[in-house]
Amino acid sequence: MQGGVNPAVVAYLGISGVVLLLMMLLGLALRLAQAEWLSIPPDLFYEMLTAHGVGMVGIAGLAGAAIMWHFLRRHVSLSQGILVANLALFLTGVVMILAAIYVGGFGGGWTFLYPLPANSGGVWKPAAAAVYLGGLLVIGVGFLLFYLDAGRAIISEYGGLGSALGWPVLLDRSRARLPEPTIVASAMVTIVNTLGLVSGAAVLAMSLINLGLPGLAIDPLMAKNMTYFFGHVFINATIYITVIAVYEILPVYAGRPWKASKPFLWAWTASTILVLIAYPHHLLMDFVMPRWALIVGQVASYAAGLPVLVVTAYGALTLVHRSGIRWDVASSLLFLSMFGWAAGILPAIIDATITVNLVMHNTMWVPGHFHFYLLLGMAAMVYGFIYHLGHGQGRAAAESALDRLAFWLFALGGLGFVLVFLYSGKAGVPRRWAVHLPEWVGYDRLASLFALALVAAALVFTLRFLVRVPRLLAMR
Ligand code: HEM
Repeated sequence: MQGGVNPAVVAYLGISGVVLLLMMLLGLALRLAQAEWLSIPPDLFYEMLTAHGVGMVGIAGLAGAAIMWHFLRRHVSLSQGILVANLALFLTGVVMILAAIYVGGFGGGWTFLYPLPANSGGVWKPAAAAVYLGGLLVIGVGFLLFYLDAGRAIISEYGGLGSALGWPVLLDRSRARLPEPTIVASAMVTIVNTLGLVSGAAVLAMSLINLGLPGLAIDPLMAKNMTYFFGHVFINATIYITVIAVYEILPVYAGRPWKASKPFLWAWTASTILVLIAYPHHLLMDFVMPRWALIVGQVASYAAGLPVLVVTAYGALTLVHRSGIRWDVASSLLFLSMFGWAAGILPAIIDATITVNLVMHNTMWVPGHFHFYLLLGMAAMVYGFIYHLGHGQGRAAAESALDRLAFWLFALGGLGFVLVFLYSGKAGVPRRWAVHLPEWVGYDRLASLFALALVAAALVFTLRFLVRVPRLLAMR
């Protein structure tokens, strides 16, 4: 086992903390605009919405990659060069995307849905769309390299991705090696993200060709399937990758090991398959989709997250129960993430029901459900991890009242923020509208106050980490 924190991982996390904070500020500005407390012209609103969406998804992927690399390298031999190359490609792509949005005026949404990038109605030029799509492609190539390297390293140590998922153990093979939870999660994310990234890169390349040669059209339904397969898999995988922090850090606090078991292995294998086939729930309103695919999407969505969530939440509860665990901000955030993930999945399941989706999908219910498990689940895991690294690492952490206040601002602000989204959705408030009707503005104002609490908490978490960076680097 190797100790210390790799400087590249520290760079990943410092950048993740700062970008998360900046993207939260953008999100706050969007909510303030809907609340009529800030005047933002609609074209700028859509540029900011695009930047917020793509920025959050990208940075969640980057933070997750840092968590996986940090723990996975204790078991397998990963390439430091690829880790650095991924970061360099990520930053290059970010510069391209920011230029496309803020110089070129691109505001077609983070999902770059064909043929919208090429059909701006004169709001942005095809060149701006090309730079945006090119930036995403550069970032995607970086992540693909990262996962190919992880796959290589896991296969050379465990003999195959199936072995890393524990299939020989499930098949009762003699001398089967029980993989550690980090290995199981890393293998799953490597499989699903490699497939998702290849699909995303292919549709990006086709869209780029179409921008240059408009006569070469793409089948829009195929493009939408490929885009949402990529987007769904990539953003879902951020939870399956950040949960490694829970598997690795909670046991340090509880003083008990977290070992994989047969139900644990079955759950991860089931979620590997289900996450890949659940994506049609993004196309439930597309009446041209084959009906069987929509039914598969609905059924798979009901089941996709549950197996891993159940074994993880149950594992966390049994780990903590009567363990005498010491609660500090890191352990509290990691425990909170179990709640955020479990509770956030419920409105997601409701939205994945075909008849409900036809009414709810374009309402605030949708940002309500994904902000629930991404903020209170995924982001809580990321903050738990950076707090743990920067702040005591399971040993007696000196915490101030400000740290504890930040935790409660995050937990309560986050809960209030997502509940207002969900309630607005129930009330029929549409999503992605720059200007809201007067009767919706009350919800927007309440949500803005909760968002302010979230931003304040994120500021404390990020600054706390940044001031500890020199000490972390010196620990090596
Ligand atoms: C303080 C925290 C945050 C605030 C204030 C915030 C605010 C918002 C707002 C106002 C919208 C537009 C809602 C609409 O009218 O459709 C939005 C959309 C979105 N947010 Fe957030 N958000 C926050 C955190 C996050 C996090 C942590 C993530 C993911 C890691 C995230 C990902 C997204 C995505 C993917 C969209 C959809 C963009 C689109 O519709 O194209 N947000 N957010």
